[in-house]
Amino acid sequence: MPKKKEVKRIGILTGGGDAPGLNAVIRAVVKSAIREHELSVVGFLNGFGGLIKNQVRELSENEVAGILPRGGTILGTTNRDNPFYYPIERNGEKVFVDVSDRIFENTAIHEVDALVVIGGDGSLSIAKELYDKGMKLIGVPKTIDNDLYATDQTFGFDTALTTATEALDKLHTTAESHHRVMVLEVMGRNAGWIALSAGIAGGADVILLPEIQYDIECVARKINHRSNQNKKFSIIVVAEGARPIGGDVVIQQKIENSYDPVRLGGIGQVVARQIEDITGKESRVTVLGHLQRGGSPTAFDRILSTRYGAAAVNFLMEGRYGHMVCLKGTRIDTVTLEEAAKGQRKVPLDIDLVSAARQLGISLGD
Ligand code: F6P
Repeated sequence: MPKKKEVKRIGILTGGGDAPGLNAVIRAVVKSAIREHELSVVGFLNGFGGLIKNQVRELSENEVAGILPRGGTILGTTNRDNPFYYPIERNGEKVFVDVSDRIFENTAIHEVDALVVIGGDGSLSIAKELYDKGMKLIGVPKTIDNDLYATDQTFGFDTALTTATEALDKLHTTAESHHRVMVLEVMGRNAGWIALSAGIAGGADVILLPEIQYDIECVARKINHRSNQNKKFSIIVVAEGARPIGGDVVIQQKIENSYDPVRLGGIGQVVARQIEDITGKESRVTVLGHLQRGGSPTAFDRILSTRYGAAAVNFLMEGRYGHMVCLKGTRIDTVTLEEAAKGQRKVPLDIDLVSAARQLGISLGD
């Protein structure tokens, strides 16, 4: 007798900060689940919130038609609503409780056999806890920061990098006209992938990364050196998580009950003011912010997202639960969520991307 199929219906959710390519993953999961494996698919809304509060949307092929080039996520997302640390009011006070049982109840109501969790380190850590508790699931690595351990690239990064590079191209022309120093602050949390890659692609003169504590005098020397060579403008890219030697990161805001509780931001302004004071050169700041998260994914991100989504369904059907799909060189593979949660992928200082920057005379602030 043929073996009974363990998974007939799957649920999908997007958690954490959005990233271009989320809709492309959703589309790939839905289409390959229905066409290749004869499954049905239900979407849970707004990250783990929808699983806790039983907010769902049936996903047919029609529902995902036309979403490939669309930014954002048709399912909604949030970086709150951790089911293992969920705020409720008890006797007039806010307390945090474990409501993860509700997730098992709600998946049972919708006859969902397994989940595809698309998220960054916060969502994937929650996914790992749910898996440890008995949920069949697989993760898909998302974040513009590209800082997930155990995959060579997350989807969303390439689009953010392209946006930052285009911004640098535009800043160049105005910097040149006004003979100014232009500082571009980019996202990335505690990893400098966006700053380093965009800085190289956009021809920056200085790139400040979280991985290298900078010396502002050294940055100023680079600007003055360019002036002495008759280059009257300079471009500085600074990662939001960069900090000076012996100093701290600039925190914009702390957010209660978020699994990403610290909002970085403001270092661009600090660098610009100091550079203006030391060199006397007029300086301006652009904070690129959430423009890096929005808009249509690049072709690279659409392809990577599609490969991740299709592979996630195949691996689920093979019973590879508790894993995350990942890119290893040119191949899509999986790693356990335990392995994936081991750390953050920062920029290693011995890679050729770093040495190429130095070789070209880009100052890394050290
Ligand atoms: O992790 C992605 C990211 O965009 C970071 O680069 C940034 O620090 C953070 O999220 C901003 O998050 P929020 O959505 O809370 O503004």
